[in-house]
Amino acid sequence: MSLTYDVAIIGAGPAGYVAAIRCAQLGLKTVCVDEWLNHKGEPSLGGTCLNVGCIPSKALLESSHLYQQADINFEHHGISLSSLAMNVGAMQDRKNQVVTDLTQGIESLFKANNVDLIHGRAKIITENTIKIVHRKTRKKIEKLTVDNIIIATGSSPVRMQQAMLADDFILDSAGALELTEVPERLGIIGAGAIGLELGSVWSRLGSQVVLFEAMQDFLPMVDAKLANLAKRQLKKQSLDIRLGSRLISAKVKNKKVHVVYEDKSGEKSEVLDKLVIAVGRKPNSDRVFGEELGIERDERRFVLVNDRCQTSVPHIFAIGDVVRGPMLAHKASEEGVMVAEHIAGNHAEVNYDVIPSVIYTHPEIAWVGKTEAECKAAGIRIQVGSFPFVASGRARAMAETEGLVRIITDAETDRVLGVHIFSAQASELIAQAVLMMEMQATAEDIALTMFAHPTLSEALHEAALSIHDRAIHIKN
Ligand code: FAD
Ligand code: NAI
Repeated sequence: MSLTYDVAIIGAGPAGYVAAIRCAQLGLKTVCVDEWLNHKGEPSLGGTCLNVGCIPSKALLESSHLYQQADINFEHHGISLSSLAMNVGAMQDRKNQVVTDLTQGIESLFKANNVDLIHGRAKIITENTIKIVHRKTRKKIEKLTVDNIIIATGSSPVRMQQAMLADDFILDSAGALELTEVPERLGIIGAGAIGLELGSVWSRLGSQVVLFEAMQDFLPMVDAKLANLAKRQLKKQSLDIRLGSRLISAKVKNKKVHVVYEDKSGEKSEVLDKLVIAVGRKPNSDRVFGEELGIERDERRFVLVNDRCQTSVPHIFAIGDVVRGPMLAHKASEEGVMVAEHIAGNHAEVNYDVIPSVIYTHPEIAWVGKTEAECKAAGIRIQVGSFPFVASGRARAMAETEGLVRIITDAETDRVLGVHIFSAQASELIAQAVLMMEMQATAEDIALTMFAHPTLSEALHEAALSIHDRAIHIKN
């Protein structure tokens, strides 16, 4: 049997499922093919983000944060508990339920929008045909004839030769989301987004967490002032962050993980209960098409695309983690929408200069646009406004006084070039900064805007005011 479509999308992560829904909304006959199987071996939509990424990690971050609040902070509010216990099984059940609800929600959205769904592994055979096989048996399920193809196959964790995954002991991020008890000593290779978020989860629940980070700098992509504050705060929360530490080997012996690593003072070792490898992710571009199709890839195997996410074959597009740019769900989804519009004959663009990033530690680290260092390196004359949450009435009422907002503007035009926030709910606050930048706001525009009181958002107002020495609640 051969099926004919206007568009076939390979992958149902945040890139693919959003592209599929938008294509169908625009009247295109659309099919989405996805091969994901959940831990029960059942098909599950949503890719990495919904199954083993953004959503389950945030569910565990929320549970562990509440536990830590009850453990440490409730007393300040006059709330006393006679006993406190964490049921890790119940926490995991809740997380799994959140994932199931959301992944099934995508299936319903597909039905509501008339997106056809095929479960299986897709391979592009010619510029207009796709073969779909069963992921395990490799038996052919279907052949599709299509006018346009969108590759949205995502990414997978980078593996380390020195630390091969070992059941129950050496895990990747998906494994670290599934732990059924709190490990006494948890090692993590890589103090990036995953290391810090999952390290926070298990540390809050009582693990001694050691992060081995190869780089000397902590979070080099983050505004230097914020990165320093965050490092200090995370260390206070008992995360043992060892910078400049390179893994030499990790072996499982007597149900423990024996780690040998090297830092500037020489070779060292640690014995841990579990080890998580979180050293980045690589694009899933190896099995989706043959070289003969002429779809080009770069030296790190990202599919090469132009600003419209078009590959070297004009009616084949690639979006999300499998192409250049930050590996973020919202960037993936926006590329999906852009490509759908383009296929339907509309004009659409992604503004790659205004992609927000968030690391969901507590406080959260969020930023958009340029850092001070990037502006200086580019020779842009800037002004910097900042406001500490210790001076915010709402932050004090919430007992969340840690952190600050920094707004960077162009000294000539007063336009906002970057906003950097370290605070409770920074993930929500940063959306205001994204809007400011999308609307090309100046510091004066923000200064002239009224913010509700008392809110954490007022810190953005005060930071903008401070650029022109007009802040009210701090000395300018
Ligand atoms: P994916 O989500 O990886 O989806 C790709 C899909 O394609 C998968 O379902 C896969 O099975 C399928 N596929 C691959 N090859 C084939 C084939 N040949 N045939 C059929 N199907 C195929 N990002 C954020 O923005 N915020 C966060 O808070 C966040 N937290 C994260 C936490 C963790 C622990 C991890 C690992 C990632 C996190 N990310 C986060 C990153 C985010 O998950 C990715 O950026 C996002 O999932 C990329 O979307 P995608 O659609 O490109 O790829
Ligand atoms: P990452 O790139 O954020 O961090 C990996 C870290 O590992 C880096 O600091 C790197 O220097 C370090 N590293 C690399 N090799 C090493 C080695 N041999 N020894 C020690 N350290 C080493 O990648 P991570 O954390 O794996 O996450 C992958 C991607 O998933 C991220 O790039 C991000 O885009 C996405 N993600 C996003 C989140 C969010 O938006 N909140 C949360 C989690 C993941």
